[in-house]
Amino acid sequence: MDIRQTRRVASGRRRRGQWLRRGLVASVVLLGAAFVVAYVRSGNLCDQGPFVAGPTPMMAVVHCDYGGPEVLRIARVPRPSPGAGEVLVQVRAASVNPLDWHYMRGVPRVMRLASGLRKPADIRVGVDFAGVVAATGSGVTRVAVGDAVFGLRRGALAEFVVVPADGLLQPKPASVSFEAAAAAPLAAITAWQGLRDHGQVRPGQRVLINGASGGVGTYAVQLGKVLGAEVTGVCSTRNLAMVRALGADRVIDYTTTDVTRLPDRYDVIFDTVGNHALGAMRSLLTPQGRYIGIGGGSPHTQRWLGPLPRVAAMALRSLVGASSMTTFVADATPADLASLQQALAAGTLRSQIDRTVPLAQAVDAIRYLEAGRARGKVVVVMP
Ligand SMILES: NC(=O)c1ccc[n+]([C@@H]2O[C@H](COP(=O)([O-])OP(=O)(O)OC[C@H]3O[C@@H](n4cnc5c(N)ncnc54)[C@H](OP(=O)(O)O)[C@@H]3O)[C@@H](O)[C@H]2O)c1
Repeated sequence: MDIRQTRRVASGRRRRGQWLRRGLVASVVLLGAAFVVAYVRSGNLCDQGPFVAGPTPMMAVVHCDYGGPEVLRIARVPRPSPGAGEVLVQVRAASVNPLDWHYMRGVPRVMRLASGLRKPADIRVGVDFAGVVAATGSGVTRVAVGDAVFGLRRGALAEFVVVPADGLLQPKPASVSFEAAAAAPLAAITAWQGLRDHGQVRPGQRVLINGASGGVGTYAVQLGKVLGAEVTGVCSTRNLAMVRALGADRVIDYTTTDVTRLPDRYDVIFDTVGNHALGAMRSLLTPQGRYIGIGGGSPHTQRWLGPLPRVAAMALRSLVGASSMTTFVADATPADLASLQQALAAGTLRSQIDRTVPLAQAVDAIRYLEAGRARGKVVVVMP
């Protein structure tokens, strides 16, 4: 290649490099502009002025903005009506979950990409409910007006909720109260999917539940026993007797004993707290053991990325050795809810209720849950 050809090739490379850089800058600028537009335009029902409740109003917990419990309001809003294939349920009881304060605060902030950038796109609160069918849309044969039911639906902290008839809705067992039925869905299904699907717990295995006294933990202890495991629960002194009464074979008081310093090894660790280093948790596993971490953190920690860095660290650790570390987001299915209904009806699973409060105190219920000291589930009952 002579000197002129070499220069041509070099200048061609420079031009391509320049275009690449310009393309990159233009993409970043466009993305930034799209984000700003989406941020400014993101809004919700509250932007349309005061709610017009109409002739059939109902009371519901709503939030127009992201923030602490002070953004919650108990407001008169229009009662929803069931469309074809839908059921209107008059809610008798609803329970609260950490999910509610995640949506309320929009934390970790990364979730706002889906839940609304500037304001919550959906102003409703709550997900677990139990109540009585008040009306049915056309084509509904599975349930009838007057049936007692329970299930999952966004906006459950309200006097009425509309649910697809063939969705997350089951008859409430007659032997179970509305409060106990409303307490169970999200927490129990999370525990069930964690132990049965992700932990693949088998009879005789040793299972450790960290956070055994919380909403999810109280069901996990019982479900570990249903699966035939030897269950150890970690909780504080005041909850030792409660966790033992739920069926735990052994309890460890985290205020006096650091579980990671004990010589015991577990086939499955179900961790709802996430307060120990992953290395320390891994050292508690048998060689083929499974660690399932489902969350943890308070409203004031991990505000931007939430559990994502810990999840990435779990994935990396799972690349080495035979034990595994994983997480999941509960995905409730009608089949899971049907299994839960059977377990509640048979009495193999019961709801441990910390407290029951009226709708007027729903904001306090979420404030209490945020403090992270609930003993089982917190339930709100409707007037
Ligand atoms: N991935 C999913 O799909 C999914 C689904 C549901 C829930 N979650 C997450 O799972 C976590 C637990 O949910 P939850 O409903 O059980 O919450 P919760 O009811 O608010 O949990 C509170 C319980 O945690 C216990 N606790 C606090 N610090 C502890 C520690 N250091 N060691 C042992 N126990 C401790 C408390 O007991 P003391 O008062 O005695 O300390 C209390 O009983 C939350 O982070 C939630 O976001 C994830």
